[in-house]
Amino acid sequence: MANPQETDAVILVGGRGTRLRPLTVNTPKPMLPTANYPFLQHLLARIKAAGITHVVLGTSFKAEVFEEYFGDGSDLGLEIEYVVEEEALGTGGAIRNVYDKLRHDNVMVFNGDVLGDTDLNAILHTHEEKDADLTMHLVRVSDPRAFGCVPTDKDGRVLEFLEKTEDPPTDQVNAGCYVFRRELIEEIPADRVVSVERESFPKFLSDGRKVYGHVDVSYWRDMGRPDDFVHGSSDLVRGVAHSPLLEGRTGEALVDDSAGVAGGVILLGGTAVGRGAEIGPGCRIDGSVIFDGATIEPGATIKDSIIAAGSRIGANARIVDCVIGEGAQIGARCELQGGMRIWPGVMIPDNGVRFSSDA
Ligand code: GTP
Repeated sequence: MANPQETDAVILVGGRGTRLRPLTVNTPKPMLPTANYPFLQHLLARIKAAGITHVVLGTSFKAEVFEEYFGDGSDLGLEIEYVVEEEALGTGGAIRNVYDKLRHDNVMVFNGDVLGDTDLNAILHTHEEKDADLTMHLVRVSDPRAFGCVPTDKDGRVLEFLEKTEDPPTDQVNAGCYVFRRELIEEIPADRVVSVERESFPKFLSDGRKVYGHVDVSYWRDMGRPDDFVHGSSDLVRGVAHSPLLEGRTGEALVDDSAGVAGGVILLGGTAVGRGAEIGPGCRIDGSVIFDGATIEPGATIKDSIIAAGSRIGANARIVDCVIGEGAQIGARCELQGGMRIWPGVMIPDNGVRFSSDA
């Protein structure tokens, strides 16, 4: 098998995360708290557990936040370097942009917003066994229509890259993790925007490069939308998705030691409660993510929602399937549902008014 210690990891974390706004107005998507850790930390722990130690982060939007938090990576047993794009270069441009930092012949590239627990060493094994130029992790999903499909031949060689289609010819989709032979990265045009999915992969195929798929049915979720974010966090808390950071601590809820949870509170469905959050008596919180320093007043019901840092949910309010932005205040007895997104700092007064984006 390709030696993981002789493999670089590159993680793309420069996107603006627009589908998760307003959570990503001030915080880049990979740094959002997911099961009480920045999402990226779960991926870094998996990379470390696989035996890879050199990691390069391709950053752009809010680039400084990553280095401030992870530093040189030594606390995690990793060596982390950062390459900043002044103007975002797209997924392919970002990979090309870290070329000078690479040390090894095998380069494992990750989208920084995918939650998965596939065996990374098995992907490296396929790459070596096939003597591939590029190996893509392909995951089999029950409904492939929302993703790019990648059919392969009997030997696992990739035949095509297809955009989203209503009638996909295969259930294998691009899982956003690739092993590149380093020279191939040098062929991506430098210093301009390049989409690896739309431009580089089709070109590698038409050039006759050896592009293989590593296909499995492992846990996989693109954390790009609020409903995926909330379910991904819940899956981590419950151990449905495995993270080395949560070994021995999975269950119905994960509560930071510094959070204050009053008596008679029901926490279930993989709810995560962050640092310094306060939950008043009689609340019921199901399958939700409560960020640091949020306050939930007595008797509130929260389901399948994200409550961002420093926000306040009033007594007996009911929040279902919503995103409450940083520092927002939702009055007592309000009812919010149906995918509503409340922008940071917005105040909704106490009056029990019903708001729904379904209307
Ligand atoms: P949306 O705006 O909601 O689509 O999210 P996004 O900006 O994160 O885009 P997308 O989900 O397609 O990106 C997949 C991964 O690539 C994410 O981890 C992004 O952070 C990363 N990414 C996307 N574009 C760039 C870029 O231009 N530069 C870098 N360094 N990373 C990028």
